[in-house]
Amino acid sequence: MMNWLIRAGALALLPLTIGIARAQDQFVDPNTMRPSQDPSRTANGLALTPPMGWNSWNRFGCKIDEATVRAMADAIASNGMKAAGYRYIVIDDCWHGARDAEGFITADAQKFPSGIKALADYVHAKGLKFGIYSDAGAKTCGGKPGSQGHEYQDALTYARWGVDYLKYDWCSTGVRNAEEAYALMADAILAAGRPMVLAICEWGNNRPWEWATKIGNLWRTTADIRDAWAGREKWSIGMTDIVDLNERLYPFAGPGHWNDPDMLEVGNGGMTPTEYRSHFSLWAMMAAPLIAGNDIAAMDADTRAILLNPEVIAVDQDPLGQQGRRIRDDGDLEAWARPLADGSRAVILFNRSETAAPIAVAWPEIGLTARVKAEVRDLWAHRSLGRKAGRFAATVPAHGVVMVRITP
Ligand code: GLA
Repeated sequence: MMNWLIRAGALALLPLTIGIARAQDQFVDPNTMRPSQDPSRTANGLALTPPMGWNSWNRFGCKIDEATVRAMADAIASNGMKAAGYRYIVIDDCWHGARDAEGFITADAQKFPSGIKALADYVHAKGLKFGIYSDAGAKTCGGKPGSQGHEYQDALTYARWGVDYLKYDWCSTGVRNAEEAYALMADAILAAGRPMVLAICEWGNNRPWEWATKIGNLWRTTADIRDAWAGREKWSIGMTDIVDLNERLYPFAGPGHWNDPDMLEVGNGGMTPTEYRSHFSLWAMMAAPLIAGNDIAAMDADTRAILLNPEVIAVDQDPLGQQGRRIRDDGDLEAWARPLADGSRAVILFNRSETAAPIAVAWPEIGLTARVKAEVRDLWAHRSLGRKAGRFAATVPAHGVVMVRITP
């Protein structure tokens, strides 16, 4: 009897619940709607091409201080990187001191005796931009004070210091809603009145590509990169593991909002020059932010030639902003293509195997008719390979790429 009554009651309520659902379709309460669905939210208009620069984490970790950051600014301004497009000098975790009596964040006075404002001024005087790091939780991943509960205050502090770029991490966030937390910081930056690129760093856990287009300018899609070809170690995964996770997100990238497969490891010593060339080429194909993570004041010739390759950088920075993708996967042998603004295609032939192998791409696979004669330019050899009809084939070294630009 009791059971029956409950069932009858539930049935009687059904039209009511349907009614409520319908009503909700028609009326979105502006106080509770998801930030990404707020029609009044607009993108900040920054990072129309993927951001380029340098970040302290991959090479220096928590061992960071103002002398190091100044040395990196000096290097980038004088070693050709600035001319090649690298702009942002970003201090990652561990610059923080304590909050002051009013709750304002301060810098670690031992590591940054002149203060962050002076450092930002120094960077700006070189014609560069300045970035900093915080976290949406109570603590950063390095255990420093996070911004939770201090968002507006921190954004104001960063604006006063002259910050142009904020990497915003996701440690110690408990049950926080990621979309809300990142939108809150985006709003705080807007209120502070200084434009800042917002780099979302929640490792792809909450599918930011589905909601962050107007909230941030780039979003990490994976766990941290490690300076290795492949394989997981604690929180970090290898370069090719990241490639596989980031590649499939190609529909979500575009001007102002990029998939971020994490910072570069080029020059840090864990991969061969051939592997680093693959790393850099794949990042350019995926329209990834090009944030160097090595000691740019002490680069060897191979590292320089990779980070400063203007033809590969041009692919990364192509104004169409369409992320390239894998168009063919024959086990260890792959072909990738990326459409570019001038109607040409960037193509890489990528060999994951342990021995050199021939790989080919046929024109129809990259959207060209088979009979068209197209100019093929090798972006690592820096030379034209002439006009070719129908297909392009090359022998690709083990763990290497051949990267070309094909112009019909
Ligand atoms: C996380 C981020 C890294 C780095 C560290 C700093 O692991 O994903 O990129 O910022 O925190 O502690």
